[in-house]
Amino acid sequence: MHLDARCGITQGVSASWLQLSLRAPTAALDAISNFLIERGSPGVVLKKNEVRAFFVRPLNGTALRRDIQRFLKGIDKIYPGMEDQPVRWSVLKDKNWNTAWRRFFTPQKIGNSLWITPPWLARPVNTRRKIIAIEPGMAFGTGTHPTTRGCLEFLEEVLALAPERQLTILDVGTGSGILAIASAVMGCSSVLGLDNDPVALRAARLNVRLNRVERKVKLSSVRLRRLTQPFDVVAANLTAEAHIELASLLQTRVAAQGYLILSGILDPKVGDVLRRFCPAPFKLIGRKNVKEWTTLLLKKES
Ligand SMILES: C[S@@+](CC[C@H](N)C(=O)[O-])C[C@H]1O[C@@H](n2cnc3c(N)ncnc32)[C@H](O)[C@@H]1O
Repeated sequence: MHLDARCGITQGVSASWLQLSLRAPTAALDAISNFLIERGSPGVVLKKNEVRAFFVRPLNGTALRRDIQRFLKGIDKIYPGMEDQPVRWSVLKDKNWNTAWRRFFTPQKIGNSLWITPPWLARPVNTRRKIIAIEPGMAFGTGTHPTTRGCLEFLEEVLALAPERQLTILDVGTGSGILAIASAVMGCSSVLGLDNDPVALRAARLNVRLNRVERKVKLSSVRLRRLTQPFDVVAANLTAEAHIELASLLQTRVAAQGYLILSGILDPKVGDVLRRFCPAPFKLIGRKNVKEWTTLLLKKES
């Protein structure tokens, strides 16, 4: 058993919990857990052919159950049989919830220059890597998910390409703030992290303070369409659908010769995303595939 480390941790919450369990093929586990986390689960446990997710017990769980059923119907074309797969629910007692989750988080090495660690663990010592502490709270982004890792690795590469130039970064959908904070400690000049979820912004603010990067990182709930300034690098770990929908807004926020990092793309959707951004005005210059997730690095040609 392992914990899907995209999950967050509820801090000192006294509540009763619902546990969902669902059997699924291994290839579908990430997509399902991603959805469940976005739908509010602070913790998802993956077994070989099963997902378990936890939810604060809602007063009325009808909307939650309906959304999950709709999602399973949506992925049935890719993973046949998911629509009819029984979803089992049970009620859990809230016993030492916080402590129980914490033991699953371990420090992660990312690329050549970063350690990401939960703040309650001792910091790695004897390392030249920069250390970032991320308290996941209820937000996405602990550093272990392939989509976050893909963005972090591309950010490291792009920042290393121009060490003498201080780049400006836009992080669309900042979640825990992990990409924004990493960009700041890796030497960019400034980052703007956007998120439309106030819970994510709260977690990101906490993490910005924790890592003392307030001078470089600004966070905002402002909508992408309201921005007017260009950025040297735009990173967006959303979904293929969101990238396509936001394509012209993302595109215009990237400065000439700047970079666009797109992540959260399930492999069957990569072609749709590439058709929307390339060949013009972007050129595909990098691509990472881990499990069924793809992260793209695009360069603006004009
Ligand atoms: C998958 S998480 C990515 C978190 C983090 N950037 C990472 O790479 O781990 C996506 C985040 O984007 C936010 N989001 C989704 N659509 C958005 C939009 N149109 N504008 C701003 N934030 C958005 C969600 O609230 C969520 O926090």
